[in-house]
Amino acid sequence: MSRTIIISNRLPVKISKNNGKYVLKKSEGGLATGLGDVYKNGSMLWVGWPGIDIPEKDQPEITKQLASLNLIPVFLTQEEINLFYEGFSNEVLWPVFHYLVTYARFEQVYWDSYVSVNEKFAAATQHAFNEGDKIWIQDYQLLCLPSLLREKLSNTTIGFFQHIPFPSFEIFRLIPWRDKLIEGMLGADLIGFHTYDDVRHFLSAASRLTPVTFSSNIISMGNRQIIVEPFPMGIDYDKFEKLPLKRQVLAEIDNLNSEKRGRIALSIDRLDYSKGILERIRAIELLFQLHPKFIGEISLLMVVVPSRDTVPQYKELKEKIDQLVGNINAKYRTLDWVPINYFYRSFSMETLSAMYSVADICLVTPMRDGMNLVSKEYVASRTDETGVLILSEMAGASKELNDAIIVNPNNIGDIMNAIVEALLMPVEEQRRRMQIMRSLVSKFNVKRWVSNFLSRMDDAKLLQHSLKTK
Ligand code: G6P
Repeated sequence: MSRTIIISNRLPVKISKNNGKYVLKKSEGGLATGLGDVYKNGSMLWVGWPGIDIPEKDQPEITKQLASLNLIPVFLTQEEINLFYEGFSNEVLWPVFHYLVTYARFEQVYWDSYVSVNEKFAAATQHAFNEGDKIWIQDYQLLCLPSLLREKLSNTTIGFFQHIPFPSFEIFRLIPWRDKLIEGMLGADLIGFHTYDDVRHFLSAASRLTPVTFSSNIISMGNRQIIVEPFPMGIDYDKFEKLPLKRQVLAEIDNLNSEKRGRIALSIDRLDYSKGILERIRAIELLFQLHPKFIGEISLLMVVVPSRDTVPQYKELKEKIDQLVGNINAKYRTLDWVPINYFYRSFSMETLSAMYSVADICLVTPMRDGMNLVSKEYVASRTDETGVLILSEMAGASKELNDAIIVNPNNIGDIMNAIVEALLMPVEEQRRRMQIMRSLVSKFNVKRWVSNFLSRMDDAKLLQHSLKTK
């Protein structure tokens, strides 16, 4: 039976230790959900890092447990976690691809480790590979992997999807190892991004840095052709639409409503400097300064999910958020109202659903974001069709969700004006916009995204075949 091998930096599983035993819990991330039955029925294998440092003596046990879920671990040493994951992935590629080049640290040891960990992933994949399997690689941590696998498995169909933006060439060229990264990606037969702009930037970088040509969205490289296309990722719409009907969620909604004073603007992000968290808080502060009538009338419910907190810039950001929120709350709070309800932790899907349900406004204002699925989750959760989405024009989602209030996240006054517009928006207008966005998010859901990508991989295979038989 031909299988699909998914390769991503992290496996879709959460591992914890309980009474000396490892406990595995499948995480229902977007991709795992989108794969649906393929993920469950065994015609799929998933290669990736289990996400924690597991001592060598425990690795055989974990490997066995993971095998029963069709998951194959790539174990990383603490040094590889420091240099490949925190270093090259999150201190070079992440900031540069999000246009925050001053955060980048171009260290040769990071790059060396990045290449050797990509080789480790290649070896693990090759070991698991059966003739006829197709390979789908995910994201920026594995940019060298397509060509490493192409060298070993020359006739295999390889797809690559990048979940974060691909920057304009003038930004990308700053990376010392830029040509090696492009050559790595060009090992794939199909390369996908969320938006057409990412595709355009990639085509431009590839044609300037390597001797390839392109016509429309097809790259010609020797006797191979590579399709480069946008695949805007969706969410599991049905899940988010049904969650507010669950008894537990209904109870949480009642609870939140009983404590609600004034209206609620919600924001949910991983801790990350690309998410525009500080600018958003400043927009709330500006609102209270310039429109004091809204003091006590609107509060920000802000969830920041801990992430990459061993990387220095993330630690600093956390301190700045704590300080700014503290100042604003100290200045504007009243005895029975707090301007910013700030949580630095993660919540269950049920609690998030209750938050989406009670939020009159959802503020999604990243400085740069590949797609941003929170915006889509809010839309899917608004079963009564009210609510206003304020969305950054720098998020991939803004290319689809035109009926949000679109803002420039660098313009704090613009965000503040959008909040005022949202607060004053009549319910009929909220409904009109929300209905259009809901139908779009429902139609272009994650299952459709997965099936589109996999079927384009089949087209890419036919294209290679026809070139060989010419
Ligand atoms: C983004 C990236 C993913 C990554 C996730 C969480 O969504 O596109 O590849 O897995 O962030 O980040 P982490 O560093 O915790 O894996």
